[in-house]
This record gives sequence, structure tokens and C-alpha cells, in this order.
Amino acid sequence: MPATTLDQLVSLAKRRGFIFPSSEIYGGLQGVFDYGPLGVELKNNIIASWWRTNVYEREDMEGLDAAILMNPLVWKYSGHEETFVDPMVDCRNCKLRWRADQIAGKCPNCGSTDLTEARPFNMMFKTQVGPVADPSSFAYLRPETAQGIFVNFANVLATTNRKLPFGIAQVGKGFRNEINPRNHLFRVREFDMLEIEYFVMPGTDEEWHERWLEDRLRWWQSIGISRERLQVYEQKPDELAHYAKRTFDLLYYYPTLGFQEIEGIANRTDYDLGSHSRDQASLGLTARPNPNSQSTARLTYFDTATNRHVVPFVIEPSMGVGRCFLAVLAEAYDEQMVKAPPADKLAAVADALAAFLKSVSKNEKVGAEARDALIERGQAIADGLPEALPQVETLLAMPGADQIELGKKLRGQTQPVADEFFRTVLRFKPQIAPIKTAVFPLKRNHEGLVSLAKNIRRSLQASGRMRAVYDDTGAIGRLYRRQDEIGTPFCLTVDFQSLEDQTVTVRDRDTMAQKRVSVGELKQYLEDRT
Ligand code: GAP
Repeated sequence: MPATTLDQLVSLAKRRGFIFPSSEIYGGLQGVFDYGPLGVELKNNIIASWWRTNVYEREDMEGLDAAILMNPLVWKYSGHEETFVDPMVDCRNCKLRWRADQIAGKCPNCGSTDLTEARPFNMMFKTQVGPVADPSSFAYLRPETAQGIFVNFANVLATTNRKLPFGIAQVGKGFRNEINPRNHLFRVREFDMLEIEYFVMPGTDEEWHERWLEDRLRWWQSIGISRERLQVYEQKPDELAHYAKRTFDLLYYYPTLGFQEIEGIANRTDYDLGSHSRDQASLGLTARPNPNSQSTARLTYFDTATNRHVVPFVIEPSMGVGRCFLAVLAEAYDEQMVKAPPADKLAAVADALAAFLKSVSKNEKVGAEARDALIERGQAIADGLPEALPQVETLLAMPGADQIELGKKLRGQTQPVADEFFRTVLRFKPQIAPIKTAVFPLKRNHEGLVSLAKNIRRSLQASGRMRAVYDDTGAIGRLYRRQDEIGTPFCLTVDFQSLEDQTVTVRDRDTMAQKRVSVGELKQYLEDRT
């Protein structure tokens, strides 16, 4: 059963060390998250796949890593100082601040309709550069990495001798002071961006825009995102960013959220290179950027065919790692019933769930909103038994559940059934799985088994191609389940036969089939499949 709610993903991500709230021991910081030990592996694998596809496997791309801090003039001439704003309203009753376009005239916290007029709020974070805090010492944390590419256009061109069309790829942090960060990694204030600025001859931009759309759809599928859960949405004229002539949004169907933007692919025309150029009047720009009196450069390309300088148009595929990370988790998540639980155990779970929900409905300490959410989710689980049984864990992690005494009993009834008859599997594409293989000795107190298992792990990881882990902290069945839950595609078990014939059992995450592979062939076997 795939994930039906975002909470299932959030709960697994926390429980297994993919994602933690930032500075949690001090109460966290809203809209900021940390990637844990498994999260950083998954994130790095996503980035590596993106870089391999968009830089190494193409003939027409360069890479760049520009600084986060830039001269503030970049943001003046890019248009961000003026236009990187969201409409904001304050609730006069509870004093909370909201994005006007997201709340339909009513405060989501207290329900009041006594709201201020919408005012523009600039989302760029400001910081101070150097020891003196005066108006000239401020800088912005970049809200997109793209500008680092535009202002380096002439540098890259001069040092690589590229001909049009060519592109520059960059991965790095972006910062946005979102008014309402929400939905876990979906809308945050600090995030990793993967951006491509692809420079083309004016007039060929529309064709390249369509080609990039197809290329990007192919990449999403290559990392395991199904085409049916992706939609292409063309922005309407009044939705376009200040720099865009046409934009395709790729939307992904997230649990709970439905279709939401996961990537934007914009035709930015000659707006950006033009806006950072001096002598704009002589450049024949189609875009109308703010006049620039402070740039020292003309960001043009000399076209030898026509013997003239042109300002290239830009096609920009731009995505955030966090939204990709959530989509990859959603796509991979599966709660699988391995064997049907016996009727008496199922009935005991159903009874405990019913008693829990009854207690929720009567409990005055749980706020109305949390109570409704618990009852709605609990009822959906009750209706979806037996397949939905593992979701009880997510139910018990919801706000207010810890106030219900019967929660302990429900967990006590459910946990053993979930452990014995179900498994949660993250069916990641092996290429992006955080851990490629886990090695277990059949017995943890047998020196020969332990030492062979540890040696295998060490040599696999030493190849530099894969993250391999060793575990001997449970029975083999339990260890398999643990690795299934974090998406490890292959588990290796070292048993007594291994000591005789130097083979190990390789167990496949998806089929659960096992086969013996000789220790000497393991590295190749795994590299071919991950
Ligand atoms: N340079 C173009 C640009 O920044 P954008 O549509 O504002 O365009 C690009 O952002 C992508 O960055 C989005 O498609 C989304 O994946 C991600 N993104 C934007 N704001 C985000 C936020 N607050 N939290 C997480 N991801 C975000």
C-alpha cells in the first residue's frame, strides 16, 4: 500500500534518521530542517544523478559553484529587490501573519476575518558583511542560485570558449523568508537548489524550451518518479515571474497535498543577461529590465556567423532538492502485507482501535482540530484493515495522540502484528538508495562469521562506489525488515556455508528472493545493480 498521507513519510523520515527538525533541542526553527545520516546519502545521490545526467552525459554543459553572498547590486538589477515579494496580511485578532493568497480571507489559526490589507513582503534574508553595521554593509542571502550563473556568464564564456547553445549547472543553497513555511520539506526557508541556465540564440528559445521539458521529464522517471504522478502545467500570463516569457511547471502528486510544483522550467528570455549589462540601449533587448548604470560589462556573445554581438536567451530548469526528496520517498513508500494476519489478532487490533477512537472523541484535553484529525485518520485506518494496519504507528504520532491513555494498549496490540505480518519497504531505485548493501553474520558471537562479514563490508565500501553497513544487532529476519524500511536494495548474510565455500546469501529487497553469490564476485554483482 503506498503512502496515503504526508505524515507517514514525515514519521518514517524522522524515525529512521532521514530528516530532523533543525536545532530540535531548542524547540526547532520554523521552516528549517537537517538531513540525518540516511537523508544526506539520499540527497547526495539525487544530486549526483542530476549532475551526471545534466553535466557529464551531455556535450553542452559546464558546472559552477558561485558564492551565496553577492554584491547587493545583483539583486537590484535582477529585479528581486522590487518584485521578489509575496502579499502578506496580519490577523488583528491573534496577531499571526499569513500569505494573503493562501487563506481566502480568514485566519487559519483563529478563524477571524479581521485582517489587515495585503502588503508586499520581500522574501530575501538580509545579513551584514563586515564589522560595521551601516546601511552600506548589508548583503542578501541569495533566494536563487541562478544570478551567480548570470553574473559569471562572461567568465565562463572566456575560459571555456563555448559556442551557443550551452548551459551552466549549479547546485547550492537558496534562502527565502517564506511567510508560512509548511508541509515539511515542501516549503522551507533554507533549501538546496539545482539550477540550469541554458543559453541559446534568440529565436531558437521556444524549441529549446520544449526540448528541456522532455529531458527533465526523462530524468524524473530515471530516478523512479512515475509519469502518471507528474503533470505539466503551463503558467498563465498573470502567474509568470517578472523575468519569464513562458514557464512550464512540473507538478507532482504528493500524498495529502495533491498536485504541487516540483520544478519550474522557464524561458527567461534575454532579461537576465540584459539586466546585468551596461549600454542596454545598444543591445537590441526584447526584455525591458531596469536601466543599469552600475554594471561594468556587456553580457553578450559574439556570433561569428553574423559578425555581431547578441544577448542569448535563457532556458532555466530549476528545482529544489527537498521537494524531490519528498517525492522520491512518496514514490518508494510501500506497506506490504507479507502474510495475512489471523482473524483473532486482527479483531484485537480493531477493538483496540475502536476503543482508542472512542476515548479520543470524549477527551477534553485534546484540542478540537487535533481530535477531528485523529478521528478522521483512525476511522480511515479502521475501514482499511488489514492493509492499513501499519498506519496505526503514524496515527499514534499525530498531535494529541499522546494524551490518550489507550494509545499504549493500541500500540501493544498492533506492533507485534505489524512486525510479523507486514513490512514497510522503500522501493528506491538502487542508484539513489542511501545504503546499497547491508552485511550480517548469521550469529553475532561467532568469530569466523563476524570477521568475514566485517571484511566484506569493508572491502565493498573501500571501492568508493557504495555505502555498505554491517549489522549484527538482531535476528536476520528483523535485520532484513530494518533495511527494507530504509530502502537498502541488497542484504548479504554470512553463514556457515560461507566459511566453507566463500559464498554469501544475497537477498533482494523487492522480491525477497535469495541467491548465493561468491565473495569474489560480490563487488561486480552489486555495482552492476546499484
Ligand atoms: N531560479 C528560478 C526559481 O528560483 P522558483 O520556481 O522560485 O524558481 C524553483 O523555484 C524550485 O525551487 C521550485 O520548483 C521548487 O522545487 C523549489 N522551491 C522554491 N521555493 C521553495 C521553498 N520555499 N521550499 C522548498 N523548495 C522550494
